[in-house]
Amino acid sequence: MNTTCIAVSNMRPCCRMLLSCKNSSIFGYSFRKCDHRMGTNLSKKQFKVYGLRGYVSCRGGKGLGYRCGIDPNRKGFFGSGSDWGQPRVLTSGCRRVDSGGRSVLVNVASDYRNHSTSVEGHVNDKSFERIYVRGGLNVKPLVIERVEKGEKVREEEGRVGVNGSNVNIGDSKGLNGGKVLSPKREVSEVEKEAWELLRGAVVDYCGNPVGTVAASDPADSTPLNYDQVFIRDFVPSALAFLLNGEGEIVKNFLLHTLQLQSWEKTVDCHSPGQGLMPASFKVKNVAIDGKIGESEDILDPDFGESAIGRVAPVDSGLWWIILLRAYTKLTGDYGLQARVDVQTGIRLILNLCLTDGFDMFPTLLVTDGSCMIDRRMGIHGHPLEIQALFYSALRCSREMLIVNDSTKNLVAAVNNRLSALSFHIREYYWVDMKKINEIYRYKTEEYSTDAINKFNIYPDQIPSWLVDWMPETGGYLIGNLQPAHMDFRFFTLGNLWSIVSSLGTPKQNESILNLIEDKWDDLVAHMPLKICYPALEYEEWRVITGSDPKNTPWSYHNGGSWPTLLWQFTLACIKMKKPELARKAVALAEKKLSEDHWPEYYDTRRGRFIGKQSRLYQTWTIAGFLTSKLLLENPEMASKLFWEEDYELLESCVCAIGKSGRKKCSRFAAKSQVV
Ligand code: GLC
Repeated sequence: MNTTCIAVSNMRPCCRMLLSCKNSSIFGYSFRKCDHRMGTNLSKKQFKVYGLRGYVSCRGGKGLGYRCGIDPNRKGFFGSGSDWGQPRVLTSGCRRVDSGGRSVLVNVASDYRNHSTSVEGHVNDKSFERIYVRGGLNVKPLVIERVEKGEKVREEEGRVGVNGSNVNIGDSKGLNGGKVLSPKREVSEVEKEAWELLRGAVVDYCGNPVGTVAASDPADSTPLNYDQVFIRDFVPSALAFLLNGEGEIVKNFLLHTLQLQSWEKTVDCHSPGQGLMPASFKVKNVAIDGKIGESEDILDPDFGESAIGRVAPVDSGLWWIILLRAYTKLTGDYGLQARVDVQTGIRLILNLCLTDGFDMFPTLLVTDGSCMIDRRMGIHGHPLEIQALFYSALRCSREMLIVNDSTKNLVAAVNNRLSALSFHIREYYWVDMKKINEIYRYKTEEYSTDAINKFNIYPDQIPSWLVDWMPETGGYLIGNLQPAHMDFRFFTLGNLWSIVSSLGTPKQNESILNLIEDKWDDLVAHMPLKICYPALEYEEWRVITGSDPKNTPWSYHNGGSWPTLLWQFTLACIKMKKPELARKAVALAEKKLSEDHWPEYYDTRRGRFIGKQSRLYQTWTIAGFLTSKLLLENPEMASKLFWEEDYELLESCVCAIGKSGRKKCSRFAAKSQVV
């Protein structure tokens, strides 16, 4: 057994993965044995603030002992014992392997999240929740039951395979026993190829599938970080697997990425906030110190400290929450979201997003490149994509958070934010003919709480392309809103996700789809779909992208066409009862994707060329296509992935924080947006 896992396993290879253990005595040995590389005199304060450093590893084998899987370039992480005076020190990757092949790894990420958490403060003061790391709680060890490799994933209660009938397409990875739980129709050759490629992109960690690599082009000798599992890229893969009745890989992914959360990473001596999820991770097989010929798998996350531009992966945590809900809805396995460590993971992400800063708006303030567009494109501030994902993640969390004394303030904060956020976006991000005309006639420099032009937008900013482009009916949410600045570009993901999550009003959602239909030649053309429209050109390109040669006009993030967006479009179309639109787009993609070797993106105004620097065999292109097909065939499953208007949210008063200075309560305004 040369690759086993962080596990307590009983003869069967990799039967269980132990994520967390509060009490070392459960396994009869002391964690302190692993602490040779770390200081033990960590103060409470330090411990509270810091998570962990290093990487997760797994290793099996015979014999008895401990191992500390710490990257020499990184520090180990620290866990608390039941006694603050003597903090227990743990290392990610510390494990004992016993002679019966049982292997135990104790992980601090989960260790600290399993200790007591306490909530302090209340919604209206700014610290609605603090999660303390404290020992002494009697928390059950968290265990993932492993499903035997090659064995069909044990269906959770209520789990339904898509349409029931199985079509074997030859599965080399053994996921779901090689079955495509597919439709009453013949699976096309293109789909068969796509499934094979998707399965070929699966990454194993300690013998279990944990994700899919971003791209697997055999001819690419410089994959950069495309050989990693990206959190956002895995979402369509996960959905394809889930819709095909395969939950194991998704569950593994969710739990392993949870382990990586709060890893302490630093860029030039500065660490990002606790709760941050990595942009990606890589499974590495490394030699074991002092054991000739033996190696082990480790998980090495990237929180942006290696990424080009050192961009912060703000969207990762949001996607993680969205995927967790999708997993629950599609498998019926409610047990996963109810776990202590999973609940804590959700809370850490929310705490990070809901922490107050200097911002005046309910939207999330981020730096450029913090989402799918992960390089300079002028989307710093409050870009729509992040807001739409934020809103979706809040809606998911509202459903998943277990309400008790320690979470009630957080839940209240989530509700408040949801209503404030939707009001803000619906009111200030929306443009259609009527609104543009209003902006055109704006007065500026209004000093009053009653100002109509609240953001002091100068009408001359309305770009000439927009005047001609905006259809009579239809509209969309602009890409970004900042003081005195509206970014009028159409960003597809944000608009689609606003439909899916009902961030837009029902009428706005309908109008967005009308606009896409009306502007089909610009937004879909030869390959669905434009990532944004229009491209930045000339001086704007020079100033905003910093003359980025990868983001030249109508290429890559700057107006390139990204087939992965097809699944989000499909979901939006199904929700708005226009599946025929999605079918049209899927048919376009199906005609070309396989022939073009599944490119990452297409270039030119109409998406006619394979992108200049586009990777081939890009996994989320493949998975996006398969997911679209599966969604169209199973609209009832699709309906579990979107949200309708929540009228309760419109009732909540966003003015709860303080009434002074407010003339009007937004509750009525929010309702009137819909009515
Ligand atoms: C590019 C994309 C990013 C994606 C990554 C891996 O950097 O901009 O969204 O996650 O490639 O595919």
